[in-house]
Amino acid sequence: MKTFLSTITITLMAAATASAALNAAEFPAANVVPPTDSPQVKEWLKAINFTGVPNFPTNTGNPPACPPASSLPADQCWRSCQSCRGDDVVTCPGPGVWGLTFDDGPTTFTPQLLDTLKANNVKATFFVMGSNVVLNPAFLKREQDEGHHIASHTWSHHPLTTLTNEQIVAELKWTEKAVMDVTGLQMKYVRPPYGDIDNRVRAVVKKLGYIIVDWTSDTYDSKDFNLNASPTEAKLAAAVTAFSASLNAYGAAPGDKGIITLEHDLYQVTVDFAKRIIPVATQAKLKIQSIDQCLGDKSPYQNSPPPANNGTGNGAGAGAGTGNGNGTGTGGKNAASTVGAKVVMTVSLAVIAAALSAF
Ligand SMILES: *[C@@H]1O[C@H](CO)[C@@H](O)[C@H](O)[C@H]1NC(C)=O
Ligand SMILES: *[C@@H]1O[C@H](CO)[C@@H](O)[C@H](O)[C@H]1NC(C)=O
Ligand SMILES: *[C@@H]1O[C@H](CO)[C@@H](O)[C@H](O)[C@H]1NC(C)=O
Ligand SMILES: [Zn+2]
Repeated sequence: MKTFLSTITITLMAAATASAALNAAEFPAANVVPPTDSPQVKEWLKAINFTGVPNFPTNTGNPPACPPASSLPADQCWRSCQSCRGDDVVTCPGPGVWGLTFDDGPTTFTPQLLDTLKANNVKATFFVMGSNVVLNPAFLKREQDEGHHIASHTWSHHPLTTLTNEQIVAELKWTEKAVMDVTGLQMKYVRPPYGDIDNRVRAVVKKLGYIIVDWTSDTYDSKDFNLNASPTEAKLAAAVTAFSASLNAYGAAPGDKGIITLEHDLYQVTVDFAKRIIPVATQAKLKIQSIDQCLGDKSPYQNSPPPANNGTGNGAGAGAGTGNGNGTGTGGKNAASTVGAKVVMTVSLAVIAAALSAF
């Protein structure tokens, strides 16, 4: 099926072989906001009509400092400072559903998490960072191959309300390209870093075809991220107990909507946390799903083939994977193998070294 022209095969920690059709040299520096004056970003910007994007100020600080609430117009709907969620996805529609999501990967710890998900037969949504996709393409590929849902978490993980419209485009499109080069999939869902979003950012993100996903509430932010500060078994056990209590409380009285939680495949300890938390779902009788599963989205990518017309009689069905008008989408698998034919294996030892030193 695929031609691998790699001149070097690099074995990463989990013995996964890098096999991605991604040329790391094409991408901007990791973990910094990409420049907006590069030829590639200029081309992306040319294709966007910014008319209708509201003009709220670009904030400063990380996290951005909140001005007095009375100075903020209601229609800014800034989550970080106005607790406003707009039309962001914050719940799963079905009662008793646990929408399982992991942010900030893929990392060298991701394979262990994938093993756990496979052993428990559950699918999750991975909100990936473009910078980390370039470092760990093989782990992203494994997420795809094992049926997980891949979504965007920007290139450099900056709070989006602190960026200009053009910088937001650069953050999303570079991440989109990295994932497209590895999987052939054009992502459709995004989670803003820190949940930091307002109606200006929402409008830009929507111009790029994205649906915004947050988490249900801070009760369902696992706070796993904090464990890495100086991990101990006692801290890990306490965090597992606290989060299990939240899940069990929800499971005992699930209301009419499912929950979306926030976890990370970023550190060894956050993956250890996930390994212990997932079995809690069984005790709490929760149904674990990825975001596309829980929303019932049969076209979870911008280039997913339209769902087959299944006798609804509206003539809208277009069969599987025949493209969508401008040659951009031919279905994940086809697109992946086309890209695979021109494999450029340029993951250098320097990049691998950088990957390992970054943690
Ligand atoms: C941009 O969008 C606005 C509103 O949707 C529309 O009126 C305008 O014609 C568009 N401009 C271009 C250059 O397509
Ligand atoms: C179409 O409907 C049939 C019968 O209900 C089902 O088996 C099949 O999976 C459906 N196909 C799609 C693409 O939804
Ligand atoms: C194809 O591109 C043209 C010009 O950019 C645009 O007007 C048209 O809506 C696109 N068609 C589809 C199906 O995306
Ligand atoms: Zn994050």
